[in-house]
Amino acid sequence: MTPEIKPVVAGNWKMNGSSNSQSMVRELVAGYDQKLQGQVDMAIFPPSILLAQTASWLSGSKISCGAQDCHANQSGAHTGDIAADMIVDAGGTMVLVGHSERRVDHNESNDEVAAKARAAWQSGLTAFICIGELEAERRSGKTLDVLAEQLAGSVPDGATAANAVIAYEPVWAIGTGLVPEASDVEEAHAFIRKQLVERFGNAGATMRILYGGSVKPGNAGELMAINNVDGALVGGASLKAEDFLGICEAYRNMT
Ligand code: PGA
Repeated sequence: MTPEIKPVVAGNWKMNGSSNSQSMVRELVAGYDQKLQGQVDMAIFPPSILLAQTASWLSGSKISCGAQDCHANQSGAHTGDIAADMIVDAGGTMVLVGHSERRVDHNESNDEVAAKARAAWQSGLTAFICIGELEAERRSGKTLDVLAEQLAGSVPDGATAANAVIAYEPVWAIGTGLVPEASDVEEAHAFIRKQLVERFGNAGATMRILYGGSVKPGNAGELMAINNVDGALVGGASLKAEDFLGICEAYRNMT
């Protein structure tokens, strides 16, 4: 955590969920009580086809929602893609860009990720910009070089604490149950903070840096207490209300 930064726990549903997810969202709304609301922000990223429904299920609650990706253009001949303005139209206020599954499955480059973040900002969305090293890069000692390159290439000029959240997700920790040592998480987050401060000054000092990769209720307390870890991006454990709330609970008594 960073004392002056309010953390956010964000759930990335990936390609999961359906119109039946309403009951699970209701459980989240019920469990996210006033004490928790004061301690930690909560956000969910359903598949875009469920975004409008999810936004309506959340209306009147303090939980935000957004999409998992957007196109860099606002309209046009891009079959299957969605524009940032459409996310706003559906009730979203945020969007993930550069998730490793997009970078790997869809060959997204840092330039494309930056263009998507700029498109998000044009529409008034907060961009959750994801970065993280592959297992081979970690093993060959290149982690910090990869993070520097991804930060430089994927985070556009003009990033602020309001329009950008950085999500550090070691690719080898996503969906595997593997989690880096606390000291490795601390080193990566301190490095990211330093890069952000060098480039963006005070905005970089107050930007949220999330950890993602196999965050569960059982390890959230330890991970969220690490310096410069300002919340979590959660995949698998965001699909069950009990687990997702269990992760948020790590913040209940944190000061
Ligand atoms: P995981 O996914 O929590 O299932 O490891 C994290 C993510 O991909 O954002």
